[in-house]
Amino acid sequence: MAVDLLLGLQWGDEGKGKIVDYLTKNYDIIARFQGGPNAGHTLEFDGIKHVLHTIPSGIFHENSINLVGNGVVIDPVIFKRELDNLAKFNLDLAAKLVISRKAHLILPTHRLLDAASEAAKGKAKIGSTLKGIGPTYMDKTGRNGIRVGDLELPTWKEKYRSLADKHEAMIKFYDVDVQYNLDELETEFFEAVKVLKSLQFIDSEEYLHQAQVNQKKILAEGAQGSLLDIDFGTYPFVTSSNTTAAGACTGLGIAPNKIKEVFGIFKAYTTRVGSGPFPTELFDEDGKRMAKVGNEFGATTGRPRRCGWLDLVALKYAVHVNGVTQLMMMKADVLSGFETIKVCTAYQYNDQLISHLPYSIEEEYVQPVYQSFKGWKQDLTKVSKENDLPKELMDYIEFLENELQVPIKIVSVGPDRTQTIIR
Ligand code: GDP
Ligand code: IMO
Ligand code: MG
Repeated sequence: MAVDLLLGLQWGDEGKGKIVDYLTKNYDIIARFQGGPNAGHTLEFDGIKHVLHTIPSGIFHENSINLVGNGVVIDPVIFKRELDNLAKFNLDLAAKLVISRKAHLILPTHRLLDAASEAAKGKAKIGSTLKGIGPTYMDKTGRNGIRVGDLELPTWKEKYRSLADKHEAMIKFYDVDVQYNLDELETEFFEAVKVLKSLQFIDSEEYLHQAQVNQKKILAEGAQGSLLDIDFGTYPFVTSSNTTAAGACTGLGIAPNKIKEVFGIFKAYTTRVGSGPFPTELFDEDGKRMAKVGNEFGATTGRPRRCGWLDLVALKYAVHVNGVTQLMMMKADVLSGFETIKVCTAYQYNDQLISHLPYSIEEEYVQPVYQSFKGWKQDLTKVSKENDLPKELMDYIEFLENELQVPIKIVSVGPDRTQTIIR
């Protein structure tokens, strides 16, 4: 039985949460494969908006199992908060939420180290969500990390103490002003660990293997976006995990030849939170309009998202790196009312015109070259059939499909589960 994979093709916040929730009816298991509470995945249905950070976006469907994979980093404190927010929905979390023993834990001192590292970088800061993601993955690859499975062993607190002491020494080394009360943070952390331990810990790679043997349908859920990938993103302004398709193999223990569909999600324009290059970024009225109509504020940090036109050069790159088989275009409704819609189809790179993503896309090397499309006036938020979409939007969609050579199967016209058009 094959596994399908869903991931973001830009700098995150493409609308992955909405689409995973929408697709869950077709799957038995939703498995998150990387990232941690830096993610903010928004779902809306029945007039309620939910934001998930670590818990997979299939959690609200009655028959789905939601798995937090080995590639994910878990902050028990934030996880507990997510569970508290779900309490009123009467979900049987003990049965439907399972956690890989091999997932790594974010300690309070990882968060402090993140803050110290960013403060020490000054103007060169990454714009991290400060959730401790970088330091936790550093401890993972440095072979010092504490994993969920360690919580079942009597020695884990000793391991914790020695790692937290080391972190404190490292925080001092940064020589920046980071205020904290570790006793308070630890009390909160150990309380949250107790709650985490009330859930099922599993050997998730074996679980997923058996699920495949038993013909279960699995959807792997990505976090962040392809341009934030540690290898293929706009390094160093990236996150610390592989957000691209390969991350689903390492983050779940799924073999590459078991992956069938790769669903690539992109906004009809582009956004980015935090620092780093963004060739099509707008600083004019058009950019402000996207931010306002699209309500572009980070679901995790509340920071305003930077906005700009669709970057087809970057999108093509993401489609290639991930082997995308189906595209999903989000937030088409936000472009209603623009006189002209632009798409970056090439870069002016030094003195050349190029159509691939070069090593550096900093603005001193790269200027976007645009193709313009006629806009449409019609409000799309109540449209439910492809035939009712304006001709100008269909021209835009067909142009993108032709350039990317991948079909756009879903067009999203609003945040609600029902505002989803299948093609
Ligand atoms: P994720 O991180 O990829 O899951 O995306 P986020 O939840 O961080 O950001 C997407 C935002 O856009 C959320 O506020 C969604 O509710 C909202 N959203 C998703 N799809 C649409 C859409 O088609 N139209 C509009 N207007 N909003 C959408
Ligand atoms: P979802 O899953 C958008 C960005 C941060 C920062 C950089 C590194 O909701 O799409 P980190 O905290 O990982 O050290 O931050 O990555 N970033 C995101 N941007 N959506 C996300 O997740 C993000 N997760 C991290 O803003 O620029
Ligand atoms: Mg998000």
